Amino acid sequence: MSVVIITNIKLLVNTRKENRLLRGKELAELPCIENAYLIIEDGTIAEYGSMGMLGQQDSENTIDASGQMILPAWCDSHTHLVFAASREEEFADKIKGLSYAEIAAKGGGILNSARKLNETSESELLRMAMTRLNEVMQSGTGAIEIKSGYGLSVEGELKMLRVIKKLKEISPIPVKATFLGAHTYPLEYKENHQSYIDLIIREMLPVIEKEKLADYIDVFCETGFFSAEETETICKAGIGYGLKPKIHANQLNLSGGVETGVKLGALSVDHLETMDEKTIAALANSGTIGTLLPTAAFFLRMPFQPARQLIDAGCAIALASDFNPGSSPSGNMNLVVAMSCIQMKMLPEEAINAATINGAYAMELEKELGSITVGKKANLIFTRPIPSLAYLPYAFGSNLIHKVMIEGEFIFS
Ligand code: NIG
Ligand code: FE
Repeated sequence: MSVVIITNIKLLVNTRKENRLLRGKELAELPCIENAYLIIEDGTIAEYGSMGMLGQQDSENTIDASGQMILPAWCDSHTHLVFAASREEEFADKIKGLSYAEIAAKGGGILNSARKLNETSESELLRMAMTRLNEVMQSGTGAIEIKSGYGLSVEGELKMLRVIKKLKEISPIPVKATFLGAHTYPLEYKENHQSYIDLIIREMLPVIEKEKLADYIDVFCETGFFSAEETETICKAGIGYGLKPKIHANQLNLSGGVETGVKLGALSVDHLETMDEKTIAALANSGTIGTLLPTAAFFLRMPFQPARQLIDAGCAIALASDFNPGSSPSGNMNLVVAMSCIQMKMLPEEAINAATINGAYAMELEKELGSITVGKKANLIFTRPIPSLAYLPYAFGSNLIHKVMIEGEFIFS
């Protein structure tokens, strides 16, 4: 058996005996142990406590973490990590003042990504996605959800999902796959929505089930994209194939996506830039998680998600990166945590809980990850020496991660 003993940890963060999806006021409670030790056996957390409780130990592998804090690795529950090309030409066009519609007319947006993805081979997509996965792991991500949605054809969507399945097999961290065939309407279906919905339901979902290509189903529920009714139809079909919904909702408008998600028992409704009191109350009174994506609001220069109102109303909130080439070309969860404190007035404790244990819940990985709990995977962030936990989001521009451990082993060291 391989045993790693970590001693003199300045602060061991998010230590929990029991799992619990945190909502409302609970998000501000972040249990920590000062001057702590942690024992890892075969990649799993075996024991932890304050240094005074550490008995005589005999292991070749002892790490002195003096001055450092240890956190559970980030659980990033919403990304579009598989894509064929970046879109910085659109970025420059937007700076020059072009509107979303003008960019789309120039062949930009999701359809631009879809054209490029359909021209790119599975092996090339896998290579690029693996590079991105390594980058986010280095910045502390210890579990990730990845969506399709840049295929928008039977072949393209299945290709994307097969790439995600390959990533699941070779990635050192857990990967969850979400089918987002309903990301936008391909041009040829612009005037014939029903035929594209039929394609999703009749041609894509049966193969996805047969090849076990997805864990969840997603729909971009938004004015000009998929209506609440269309979202419901597609999600119900997905549920029939064993896929729980995780929905893109209320990014640009009060789209009805939150209500539809709540009604269908969605695992999460994500984005939530545009919310009113009624929608907030509907979410607060449900078991559905609200996933906030502050870097997408930042990149699109949109109002940030109303995190304070959501938390004060009693919602269960998770934070995720939305890593994608169009609205959040960064998968850096440290930035997500910092931005949620700086711009959305989340407390550092709330943000850390939302990006760890609640993020794990938003991928149904809470039994494996998201907190320092005996029996969970030792996917951990070791910080550089920092004066306090609040320093993490406060010093937003510094790389404060010293090392990342995945199942008891340091990566890239
Ligand atoms: O989550 N909102 C829809 N989808 C993505 C952006 C897609 C793109 O522009 O490529 C998002 O923000
Ligand atoms: Fe997204």
